[in-house]
This record gives sequence, structure tokens and C-alpha cells, in this order.
Amino acid sequence: MNRKQYTTELIDLLYFCEQYSAGKKVLDCGAGGSYPKLAFFGDKDYELYGIDSDDEALQSAHQFAQKNQIEINFKKADIRSIPYPDNHFDVVYSYNTIFHMKKIEIKKAVDEIIRILKPGGIGFINFIDIKDDIHKTDTEDEPGEYVSSGDGYDIIHTLLSEDECEAMLSGVKILEKQQKYITRLNIDQPYKYGFLDYFFQKES
Ligand SMILES: C[S@@+](CC[C@H](N)C(=O)[O-])C[C@H]1O[C@@H](n2cnc3c(N)ncnc32)[C@H](O)[C@@H]1O
Repeated sequence: MNRKQYTTELIDLLYFCEQYSAGKKVLDCGAGGSYPKLAFFGDKDYELYGIDSDDEALQSAHQFAQKNQIEINFKKADIRSIPYPDNHFDVVYSYNTIFHMKKIEIKKAVDEIIRILKPGGIGFINFIDIKDDIHKTDTEDEPGEYVSSGDGYDIIHTLLSEDECEAMLSGVKILEKQQKYITRLNIDQPYKYGFLDYFFQKES
């Protein structure tokens, strides 16, 4: 098992899905990469859907799914304009993805996630906490929006306060929020990575 394959957040998400008897049609928004998180639901009788805007990320996830014989319906799409109808999925989540946009775009993405979630459905989004240290050495373009240069392209990390996250989630019932910091000490440059995780339900 690779530690990138599963995260504790998915276990908590599954808990809420079962607790609230959600149905089994799940969409991952930002589903690409070598270890698609949807695989976690693969042996639990879920119908799996994933969107990602990047061809390479989708290709890697598709290869993983094929190799491991997991049926996942991938689609190239942007979270800010999700190509599925209103009230379509029982479970929608976005892990380590939504903060790669400016605040105004994050709001659009959150609205889309809520739109396609069925009433009574369960959602999960993790945001980067404004108290996070790691990105603050990057260039702050707009308040909370930090940009660094990658391999020939810019990467944005947007940090939000609890109030900002909750304003975006004002249309849903927050079931649980978790504030967490990961501090890895046994590396050359210790860092603090902070997240605000929200588990929520679209009200009927
Ligand atoms: C840091 S990776 C995380 C991938 C995966 N959720 C995981 O945890 O392994 C972020 C992913 O989000 C995708 N992504 C970023 N912005 C997106 C957008 N606006 N719409 C759809 N996908 C996006 C990227 O292509 C990338 O595959």
C-alpha cells in the first residue's frame, strides 16, 4: 500500500456517508494523479466518477484504475463548471485541490459541488488554513493568495479563514469541521501544513 492512496479524511467521509445513509454514487473533483482517491470506495460497492482538468493527471489515474481493475468513470472537466446536472450525486468531495484557485474561483467551485449534490447528500472539501506557514514565503498576489513558480508554470495556494470557508458553505449543513496541522519534524526543513476540513450535508 502507498500512503498517498488513502487518507484519514476518506475514512471520516465514509463514516458520514454511512451515518446519514447516503446513496452510493460518488464524484471526486480533482480525481487525477497516480493514486486516485476514488480507489478507496472501489471495493465498497460505490459507483465511481471523477473529474480533473489535467490530461496527464487523468491518464495516470486511469492507468491505476485499469491496473487494479477498478471501474472509474473519468471525465476531463473543471470544478468551476461541472458537467453534471443538479442534484445528481449522493457524495461529492474534493481533496487537496480546491485551494489551487483564487478565492473568487473557489467560491464558484464550492457552488458547483453543492449544486450537483443531491438533497441529503454528503460532501467533503479541504481548504488550506490561513494559519498555515508553508506558503507564506511565496508571492502574495492578493490577500491570502500565494503564487510560486513550478516547472515553467505558476502554482497558486489560496489560504482561507474559517469565516471565509463557512461563508462559502452557508447553503449547507456543516456536520463536522476539523482544523489540522501536519508538522513533520524528521526532515531537513520542518514545516507546518495547516488544513480546514469540512464534512457537510445538503439539506433536503
Ligand atoms: C494536488 S492534486 C490532488 C489530486 C488528488 N485529489 C489526490 O489527492 O491525489 C490536484 C489535482 O486537481 C486538479 N485540478 C486543479 N484545478 C482543477 C480544476 N479547476 N478543475 C478540475 N481539476 C483541477 C489537478 O489537475 C490535479 O490533478
